[in-house]
Amino acid sequence: MAAPPGPALPPIASLLDLSGRTALVTGAAQGFGFAIARRLAEAGARVIVTDVNADKAADAAARLATEFGGSTDSARLDISDEAEVRAVFARFGDVDFLVNNAGVFSNFTIENLTVEEFDRIQRVNVRGVFLCSKEFARTMGDRTAGKVIVNIASVDALGPSCPGQVHYTSSKHAVAGLTKGFSVELAPKGVRVCSICPGAALTEGAIALITGGTPAGIDIAAQWDGIAARTPSRRLVTVDDVALGVLFLVSPMAAGITGTLIPVDGGITSQPWEGYVE
Ligand SMILES: NC(=O)c1ccc[n+]([C@@H]2O[C@H](COP(=O)([O-])OP(=O)(O)OC[C@H]3O[C@@H](n4cnc5c(N)ncnc54)[C@H](O)[C@@H]3O)[C@@H](O)[C@H]2O)c1
Repeated sequence: MAAPPGPALPPIASLLDLSGRTALVTGAAQGFGFAIARRLAEAGARVIVTDVNADKAADAAARLATEFGGSTDSARLDISDEAEVRAVFARFGDVDFLVNNAGVFSNFTIENLTVEEFDRIQRVNVRGVFLCSKEFARTMGDRTAGKVIVNIASVDALGPSCPGQVHYTSSKHAVAGLTKGFSVELAPKGVRVCSICPGAALTEGAIALITGGTPAGIDIAAQWDGIAARTPSRRLVTVDDVALGVLFLVSPMAAGITGTLIPVDGGITSQPWEGYVE
């Protein structure tokens, strides 16, 4: 017996048309966040560029408005500050796509890792993602189907990338847990929650990490020099690799995908274990 005909399929081009949708991106003044905001604006979404650096967020939003002519807005948002998170969602309300991109990183071996630094990383990378996701869910109104949260986790959400990352790796494992936990609770409302796990990319923040001095016991420049050579694709990740992954995940092309972590890493987490066989 032939399967009954399904509904007419939407044309492919319409799947990438985000006009009429609103996206809020955190940490969007530079790096991955700006690249993500740029592709979402190009796809026609109204983009709210947020960052703890208000001036840079305003500048980034103005650049997007000039380039794409669409509706953009900006706001100061420290994602770890509950009052600020509540105020920003109260101001913009009913957001369709939340991209939890803002995050902080540093390199310290365990004996040099202070409690203050451990807490600083958790506060932004874990508490920040929790606060924004919670407020998104609280303010998303009645028309929830098709709304999406994308968390920018890391290959460190899957396992430690290198020494000096206990604080960061644990924070990104927590982002994996937040992704799965929120996805289970929001799936019945038609809301999808996923993570992208980028490999190393030379963003402004990464460059500052590499050039900003070497904490005891770690040669960061040498660590990064070796990454492209050890990556199966033989190159670092680009900011647009990640932006295109986010575009896919918020689009109806990913309608069947939720609660999952997608590496955008040139294959570095998929290669054979070094030393497993001769
Ligand atoms: N660059 C990489 O190699 C890499 C790899 C994997 C994952 N990531 C993740 O990607 C995300 C973006 O990283 P990036 O490399 O673009 O960093 P970046 O430092 O270049 O940019 C981060 C942005 O976040 C903002 N920010 C910092 N703290 C904030 C806070 N409390 N509230 C709001 N905004 C804040 C900064 O002002 C900056 O504009 C982070 O979550 C990071 O952990 C980066």
